[in-house]
Amino acid sequence: MNSKPILLVTRKLPDAVEQRAAKDYEVRLNASDHIYDSESLIKAAEGAHALLICNSEILNADIIKKLSKTVQIVACFTSGYEHVDIAAAANYGILVTNAPDALTDAVADLTILLLLGATRRASEGEIIMRGAQWKGWDALFMAGSAIRGKRLGIYGMGRIGRAVATRAVSFGLEIHYHNRSRLAPELEAGATWHKNVESLLECSDILSFHCPLNDQSRNFLTAERISLMPYGATVINTSRGDVVDDDALISALISGRLQAAGLDVYRGEPNNIHPEYRRLTNTFLMPHIGSATLEARIGMGFQALDNLDAFFKGLPPPNRVR
Ligand code: 8YV
Repeated sequence: MNSKPILLVTRKLPDAVEQRAAKDYEVRLNASDHIYDSESLIKAAEGAHALLICNSEILNADIIKKLSKTVQIVACFTSGYEHVDIAAAANYGILVTNAPDALTDAVADLTILLLLGATRRASEGEIIMRGAQWKGWDALFMAGSAIRGKRLGIYGMGRIGRAVATRAVSFGLEIHYHNRSRLAPELEAGATWHKNVESLLECSDILSFHCPLNDQSRNFLTAERISLMPYGATVINTSRGDVVDDDALISALISGRLQAAGLDVYRGEPNNIHPEYRRLTNTFLMPHIGSATLEARIGMGFQALDNLDAFFKGLPPPNRVR
């Protein structure tokens, strides 16, 4: 290709990312940051060689089939890529990449925020302060639960799970995890591997999800599985809302079977979240901002561009997903 490849960037991205993209590609940016519906996405992609998409763009088999035949690669500005039908893309010879590295610290930090916010009743504290309802001190006023000495169960000990474990160890938590296979000792760093999820659940005073959304993890946290957890345990989720059965989690939070939940992701987000989460005071809720530091978002954009650059130089993109 003699001229610059044509790149459709579907959402407004940090300036540094757009400027770098504009240097190396004939870019189609989205200055107004409108969300493309499937029809307008197909139209915008007409004649493009590459797409740089976010999780607001759902590339299902039907859309992929209708995409311009010029499109050779889709670079996701995301770590999770369940919004793209990878098999359908492969059928049409479209390569897909993700951006799994730059967000690790940001998501791990937010996980600790949720863990502390949930166990220390931060939502209740905020409600009291913002509503000018603070009457004064008493010995049990807003008493939460300590985390030192508790067991943190990590479901999915990949990059983010391990970054959470490193942080959690400094708070005195004991780390347990489930992955299909046991990690090498240097990656495990003293954590205890559980071959079976049941055994992980039984020892998770706090359970934190760091898994991709797939057939194994979808609807993972059911009432039956919650019943295996220690009484008064806490659930943290920064992965995907669909790993949780909302009704099961909500009824356990209402009954006290679970003490609290810290959530950044939701089934049906952003507009169709189970309303009960907002009504409960033992939930600490964030609006899917795990990777929302400027540093992480620039890094994610650069990683997406690194993948595109490699591809158009005829090299294997470092983060190809299959
Ligand atoms: C992003 C994410 O906010 O990367 C992911 O998988 O869930 C988030 O960090 C979002 O997907 C950006 O498109």
